[in-house]
Amino acid sequence: MTAGPVKLAPSLLAADFAALGDAVRAVEQAGAEWLHLDVMDGHFVPNLTFGPPIIAAVRPLSGCVFDAHLMVERPEDLVPDYVRAGVNALTIHAEVCPHLHRTLRWLREQGVRAGVALNPATSLSAIEEVIPELDLVLIMTVNPGFGGQAFIHGMLDKIRRCRNLLDRAGSGAEISVDGGIGPHNAAAVVRAGATVLVAGSAVFGSPGGVAAGIRALRTAVVAVQ
Ligand code: DX5
Ligand code: ZN
Repeated sequence: MTAGPVKLAPSLLAADFAALGDAVRAVEQAGAEWLHLDVMDGHFVPNLTFGPPIIAAVRPLSGCVFDAHLMVERPEDLVPDYVRAGVNALTIHAEVCPHLHRTLRWLREQGVRAGVALNPATSLSAIEEVIPELDLVLIMTVNPGFGGQAFIHGMLDKIRRCRNLLDRAGSGAEISVDGGIGPHNAAAVVRAGATVLVAGSAVFGSPGGVAAGIRALRTAVVAVQ
């Protein structure tokens, strides 16, 4: 079972926070399907970003799938606020959620796509027992906390193994890859099995602007589809 064509998910983390609304609009205008929202709590990761009020404020500006990536401790206590803020997909980290099954089920009951993120050091076995509850697996290809880091090459094999695991289970869950993704490695991660590409610096740091950054990623992906 496959999850369909590859989606691009520009990460707002790399945008100019003084002009968030413009960034959100630019991503949709340039044809990205998803918008990736990196929520950091200063505990699970050594950085702080934004939370439900900011997501709710920009929600009306875009029809993109709002894809929140919660890099926070005790995510099960916080998910209702993100659902109310209007996200469409919510991804929590396996490392900080002892009740994954319950939380994923609850998310789906709210009509939100349920996702689990895995740090580079976390084994795929962390999701094995909850595959039927999953709409999305997010493979971290950097250690979370900051944008602009280099892709960890060894994660390509993890993406491949994740694809096999999901296929064997008959799962249609998306595989999202996050960290150090750009036109130079987009084809390789798609070949390995990724269906959602998160990209911060490659989009917002593109010398030609957001539209050029998204175009370059799309060109790289289309070549292998
Ligand atoms: C890292 C975040 C990523 C980050 C990606 O902790 O989860 O989504 O924004 O940024 P780039 O694409 O610059 O590596
Ligand atoms: Zn992210």
